[in-house]
Amino acid sequence: MYRRFFPLLIAFLLVLAALPLAGDAAAASIFDPHSPSGTAIARLFWLVLGISAIVFIVVEVALIAFAVRYRQRGEAGEPHQIFGNRRMELLWTGIPAVTLAIVFGIMAFTMHSVSASPKNDPNALTIEVIGHQWWWEYRYPGQQFVTANELHLPVGQPVHLRLGSADVIHDFWVPQLGRKMDLIPGQTNDLWVRADDPGVYTGACAEYCGAQHAGMRLRVVAESPTDFANWVAGQQGGEPQPTSATERGRTLFFQGQGDCTSCHAIAGTTAKGNVGPDLSHVGGRATLAAGVITNTPDNMQRWLTNPQAIKPGNRMPNLRLSDADVRDLAAYLESLK
Ligand code: CUA
Repeated sequence: MYRRFFPLLIAFLLVLAALPLAGDAAAASIFDPHSPSGTAIARLFWLVLGISAIVFIVVEVALIAFAVRYRQRGEAGEPHQIFGNRRMELLWTGIPAVTLAIVFGIMAFTMHSVSASPKNDPNALTIEVIGHQWWWEYRYPGQQFVTANELHLPVGQPVHLRLGSADVIHDFWVPQLGRKMDLIPGQTNDLWVRADDPGVYTGACAEYCGAQHAGMRLRVVAESPTDFANWVAGQQGGEPQPTSATERGRTLFFQGQGDCTSCHAIAGTTAKGNVGPDLSHVGGRATLAAGVITNTPDNMQRWLTNPQAIKPGNRMPNLRLSDADVRDLAAYLESLK
């Protein structure tokens, strides 16, 4: 008896131990949806959980009741057998079959509703999402700019995400905004999202894609149409005029030992690299390294000093920059608001 329960007890303790981790990701919870498809998925979950709970309770109560009611009381011989009782056999085949058919029906309905594509909606905003090892590229073809790692959306407007990949399979999953969808090289997948409320919704790449799979965080900023329009206007703006504080950093960026321009792009300049994230307005982002660290001048300097220490395995080498170069480059990059 004790031996049989021991593995169960261990499993239970492991689940308990994992709970604080789940708590950390509370912001990315499927239980707090902020979109029509997220709400549909959460409803499906609770409904199926409810049905399962009813089945569990009925079965366990019956099990205990029968065990007590028909326990061995010292009578001799086998109890009365019910083999061939058609009514009971029909019942215990029929009830599960009908229950599963109902669950299947509701699930198929939810799948259809979360995949429904408002294809002809002229109001839809199209954004291309390209997965890279290990960051996200966002292209706004209608607005003609490119950004990285922080996706901005207007609240209440259907958004058509066209998902592709530059290298391996990634997976876009922001639980509060609905279902997940793979990004597959050589193929475009379509995902429609609509945020109901302003806020920052987080997620993570949900398909193992290499060393920094876990360092490929998603950050979606849903904002009012006015705020979104302001953000778009900012993204469309060019590089700010260099000042005395940023002039040297700018020169290093374009001509320094690292030659940042072979990997990174800055709109309106000769920097057109696409190996690493577009840095046109990197100073205005809340995080760096695809959500791994917050964007502060200190963290920017730490990143430039040794990117491998912060995100081991990522594609940016340690350029062994001097302290002065790190400081000036960071000042230039942070000025790109
Ligand atoms: Cu990208 Cu996992």
